[in-house]
This record gives sequence, C-alpha cells and structure tokens, in this order.
Amino acid sequence: MHSALVLLGLSVPTIYAAPFTLSERAVPPLLNVEPTQVPIPGEHDWTSGYVAEFPIHSSCNATQRHEITKGLEEAVLLAKHAKEHILIHGNKSEIFQKYFGAGPAGSVIGWFDKIATANRDGVLFRCDDPDQNCATQDNWGGHWRGANASSETVICDASYTTRLPLAALCGRGFDIATGKPSRFWGPDLIHRLYHVDLVGEGIIDHHADGYAGVTELAKGENYTLAAVNSATLSYFATEVYAYDISIPGEGCVGKAAASAVAEHAHGAPTSETATSTSAMAVTTSIDPTRVIPAPAQTSTAAAAGQDCHSHDDGTIHCV
Ligand SMILES: *[C@@H]1O[C@H](CO)[C@@H](O)[C@H](O)[C@H]1NC(C)=O
Ligand SMILES: *[C@@H]1O[C@H](CO)[C@@H](O)[C@H](O)[C@H]1NC(C)=O
Ligand SMILES: *[C@@H]1O[C@H](CO)[C@@H](O)[C@H](O)[C@H]1NC(C)=O
Ligand SMILES: *[C@@H]1O[C@H](CO)[C@@H](O)[C@H](O)[C@H]1NC(C)=O
Repeated sequence: MHSALVLLGLSVPTIYAAPFTLSERAVPPLLNVEPTQVPIPGEHDWTSGYVAEFPIHSSCNATQRHEITKGLEEAVLLAKHAKEHILIHGNKSEIFQKYFGAGPAGSVIGWFDKIATANRDGVLFRCDDPDQNCATQDNWGGHWRGANASSETVICDASYTTRLPLAALCGRGFDIATGKPSRFWGPDLIHRLYHVDLVGEGIIDHHADGYAGVTELAKGENYTLAAVNSATLSYFATEVYAYDISIPGEGCVGKAAASAVAEHAHGAPTSETATSTSAMAVTTSIDPTRVIPAPAQTSTAAAAGQDCHSHDDGTIHCV
C-alpha cells in the first residue's frame, strides 16, 4: 500500500521503516520520492536541479508576486486534479470523453503532470513590460514572449483587476459553456504555461478554441489533436474541478450543455458508479484544503483582461 501512497503523493505513515525518515530527506516538496530513492548525502543526487516553485522575476513587486504565486498554485491544483480524475476514471469519464473523444488518456495525464509536477527551472514570470505589449495592446492580461524569450511570460496589470480565484469557480453566474475559463487565474495560467517551451515543448498548440470549438474537435476525425490542444486542456481542467470539487456532482457546465449530458447519463459523471471516498483517500493525493468555501455573491462587472499573445509568425491570438 505504501508505494501507492507515495506514488500519488500522500505522506508515508511513520510506522513504515525506511532507511531515512522523511524529515531528513533532501527532496523538493513536489517530487514524490520513495524513501529508498531518497539521495544519500554525499552520493549522486538524482533530484539535483529540481526547482519546485515557478521563478518570479524581480520586476514583480510584493503584491504582484503574491497574486501570481497564488494563481500558479491554483494552476497546479487544477492540473493535479485533472490528472487524478483521469487516473481514477480514465476514458470512462464522460467529461474526459467530451473533451478528448476516444483518447488517448496517457498522454493527457502526462501533459497535466508537466504543470502539476515537472521541474519549474527556467519558467520565468515577469511584471515589467519588456516588449511593451501591456502598454500598447488593448487590455491584455499578459503574453508569452515568443521568440524574444521563449521561457518567459509577462503578466500585465489587467490580470490583477480581472482574474478570479479558484474558490469563486461556478459563482457569480459563471458557466463553462458560455464563460471563459481564463476569467480565473488557474486556467489562464495553465494556458500561458503551455506556451512556454519548457512546459508545452512546442507540441501543445491552438487547434480549436472556445467551448464549442474544443468539444467539436473531440468529436471529429482529428480528435487525437485534443490531447495537445491548449484550450482543451484548460477547459477540461476547469470542468472536472467544477464538477468534482466546486459543486460536487453538479459543476457549472451551463444549462444547455448539462441537459445534453444528463439525457445521456442521468447526471452521473462517469459510466461507473462513484468511487468510494475511502478508496479515493488511499489512492490519491486529495488535499483537505480543497474544500472550497461558498463563492462570494458579489458581481464583477469588470471586463475580463483579454487572453492574447503574439506568435512567432507575427500573428496575434486572442481567446
Ligand atoms: C505593485 O505594482 C502594482 C502595479 O503597478 C501596483 O498597483 C501595486 O500597488 C504595487 N504594490 C506595491 C506593494 O507596491
Ligand atoms: C477506452 O479505452 C479502451 C482501451 O483503449 C478502448 O477499448 C475503449 O474503446 C475506450 N472507450 C472510449 C469510450 O473511448
Ligand atoms: C519581441 O520584441 C520586439 C522588439 O521589441 C517586439 O516588436 C515584439 O512584439 C516582441 N515579441 C513579442 C512576442 O512580444
Ligand atoms: C483534420 O486535419 C487534417 C490535417 O490537418 C485537415 O486537412 C482536416 O481538414 C481536418 N479535419 C477537420 C474536420 O477539421
């Protein structure tokens, strides 16, 4: 049992006799390393070079740093949950089928793990405006620096006044079918991270955008592109989090989209009966802090910062 716990990130019970105790291990917090794999001090450290936190540039002041850090934590939480939803339900999940068609599930798990766990070394977020896009483009929330610095992302001031926290997901009249997941920090930063070559490897791309676009992609002949489509990954992560965590068993896909699913599945999220809570506690790294407080009912009329970026070929892409 302990290996499943370690693999999926639960702490190892103290009764487990390991050569090193966890308090001694020099392994960064995001890596789930078996006690027997913890590097021995003075010998080859296979974890060396692992950076657990996304680097934030010195151009970000204290407030910006806090907001971006919190947003990135939410991006990581979404990616982790998306991965675990697929690890548990695989392609039996109707939400999985809706976004990825006939699959495959394995590569999608991998792309989410790039954000959930992979080395953050070199993935830089900055708050100055080196390319002058914040200053000159209409209401951009930020942009990937493309050929100017392919591992760098600029966050513009519009983000701080338009992006919402994950705790507000499904509140304020938001639904996934008609709203933009990028209104929330987590999905917005997932999209931005996939642009960075260290994360998206130049493989994650824009093949379809918007709820209608991504669900059509999954149904069509090119469904395998869904697994490498940036908007598919952020929509899926948002919808499974909404359905599993924000409003458990209900989510907020929107009335039209929800009734189509209910007709087919009688409202069940997967073709299987729900996994019992105790089984989930043993096999996944579900975090008790994921219990989400009721969303605030205040209305936010602020226009969402546009989700745009320029591509190397000079085109500008907004979603
Ligand atoms: C950080 O910069 C932003 C944008 O310029 C500004 O609104 C905010 O007040 C600054 N925060 C601090 C602590 O200086
Ligand atoms: C799920 O995956 C299995 C194994 O690859 C495959 O046989 C099955 O057709 C898939 N189901 C759906 C609904 O895609
Ligand atoms: C890269 O820098 C050039 C020159 O400053 C600028 O015109 C261009 O828009 C920048 N590219 C991006 C993706 O911001
Ligand atoms: C699928 O992709 C191929 C190759 O890019 C393209 O020619 C075709 O039009 C696409 N099909 C649909 C339905 O978009």
